[in-house]
Amino acid sequence: MCGIVGYVGGRPALDVVIEGLARLEYRGYDSAGVALLAEGRLATAKRAGKLVNLRGALEEEPPPAGTLGMGHTRWATHGPPNDRNAHPHVDCTGTVAVIHNGIIENFAALRGELEEAGHKLGSDTDTEAVAHLLEDELKSGGDLAAAMRRVCRRLEGAFTLVAVHTGDPDLVVGARRNSPLVVGVGDGENFLASDVAAFIAHTRDAIELGQDQIVELRAGGVTVTDFEGRPAEVKEYHVDWDVSAAEKGGYDYFMLKEIAEQPRAVADTLLGRIGTDGRLTLDEMRISDQELREVDKIIIVACGTSFHAGLIAKYAIEHWAGLPCEVELASEFRYRDAILSPTTLVIAISQSGETMDALMAVRHAREQKAKLLGICNVNGSTLPRECDGVLYTHAGPEIAVASTKAFLTQLVAVYLIALYIAQVRGTKWGDEVFAMVQLLERMPEKVEKVLETMEPVRELARSLAGERCVLFLGRHVGFPVALEGALKLKELAYMHAEGFAAGELKHGPIALIESGLPVVVVVPPRARDVLHDKIVSNIQEIRARGARTIVIAEEGDASVEPYADTLIGVPAVPTLLQPLVTTVPLQVFACELATAKGHDVDQPRNLAKSVTVE
Ligand code: F6R
Repeated sequence: MCGIVGYVGGRPALDVVIEGLARLEYRGYDSAGVALLAEGRLATAKRAGKLVNLRGALEEEPPPAGTLGMGHTRWATHGPPNDRNAHPHVDCTGTVAVIHNGIIENFAALRGELEEAGHKLGSDTDTEAVAHLLEDELKSGGDLAAAMRRVCRRLEGAFTLVAVHTGDPDLVVGARRNSPLVVGVGDGENFLASDVAAFIAHTRDAIELGQDQIVELRAGGVTVTDFEGRPAEVKEYHVDWDVSAAEKGGYDYFMLKEIAEQPRAVADTLLGRIGTDGRLTLDEMRISDQELREVDKIIIVACGTSFHAGLIAKYAIEHWAGLPCEVELASEFRYRDAILSPTTLVIAISQSGETMDALMAVRHAREQKAKLLGICNVNGSTLPRECDGVLYTHAGPEIAVASTKAFLTQLVAVYLIALYIAQVRGTKWGDEVFAMVQLLERMPEKVEKVLETMEPVRELARSLAGERCVLFLGRHVGFPVALEGALKLKELAYMHAEGFAAGELKHGPIALIESGLPVVVVVPPRARDVLHDKIVSNIQEIRARGARTIVIAEEGDASVEPYADTLIGVPAVPTLLQPLVTTVPLQVFACELATAKGHDVDQPRNLAKSVTVE
């Protein structure tokens, strides 16, 4: 949600900044802008719409060359996405420029105060107030970093701010509270960005910034302090993927590449977690076995696709670990009176580790003394730092806005956690855990097999591009898979799509069924005979009412054939692991259908990756 890049070094800053913005555009694409310091002057350019519009403007009117600059790609919060509201924003003197990610909650009061003092504000944004506050602070002495510290102490809400000032021509200043900002450390050059993808082509050495910190970036070094100016502790780390992971690699869309990467992502997430004796060792767990034995309840908090992974986790945790488990939308969690205690384990699932709703839920749980475990894909992000333990999913960078490979790896992570707790608490025999782990290790090959057979699914998707609505049904772990299939279709194809628990149909939704309505049904494995047979009856019920049935079932499941207008076979796997194979056709289906409608699946309308506002 808003991408930020800052650079100072020896190269042409415009090239570095634009390249960084191109890699961050998935975070927001309502408008884009740059600010450069060159020849003692501040030059800015900004345009509504995607980065391509800004590139066009810069080609028409090239700014002076400089080696210090910053850039922004916006997901609008305050004010419509037009040129005027695009970042950077400048002060009255035209010497200070600011870019921002987040929401400054007290901006209306600050704006009123500034206008009363004679400042002229030209946009509807909360960000612009910061440029004018910096202007005032710079007048009262000190450099840009000192001014930024004083301004930040007055701000409420969540923000990453980056600023430049003609009076400090070799300095880029960044500030961070509740929004992401990382430093890339180069040789004679340094970078600031919302995430490492922006500078990965130049350096893989990064610094993770903490809460309420100010970073001063010069070509020769990086200084980090808190908002009071005291030296701050920071964590250095090396990024374990390279620039090729952040490129399309021959695919038309990142989403297609990320769907194809799923077998490897699943395998990487299992790697190093299974000992030679078959026992699980989760190094980053950092919650002792004794503490795990004392846990009497698990609450999972997450949003969107990660929430669907949480719904599936519930089945695995209750079945294997024998613990009661609740799953909660992170955005709702802190607004109700959930009962937590030091023996509650809260598991927060977030691909980005920056989703504000998830972070707020974690902080709420922390206040109530619960133990906190994060499942996260992004090293250096905020969520792992705020949890007692973390299990990283090793999906690699997920750049398409719609989550695919991150979801599958989140499933692997929750299976590992459920089995680990079962091992520690002795709710399953060691050989039972080992047997399940062995099955998990075979999942990359099963997912690969699904991917090899997707052509009929693509064909089907293209044939349904003219439909207005698609329903998805599932039972047990197939229900969250149905929800995920519907979410993918909504966000990519902008179609009405709903996921239902198949057993609920008769309690209302069956009224939606009409002649020709496409209904996708996820069928449990035959081995779960009661569940399986019940859903076969559901398929017959909707077909009798005219639905066009698209059935996802185990290969060779002859019992569904007579009732399926289209049958999609997936490899036979145990029930709890089935979402790893049944989700993939739904991802491919949504991606292909949206593409057939002419949509950009990497950047769906109104959305942005990493939702850093509440
Ligand atoms: C859907 C999607 C979103 C995210 C949600 C949570 O395809 O990507 O629903 O799953 O915004 O994001 P994270 O996992 O980063 O907290």
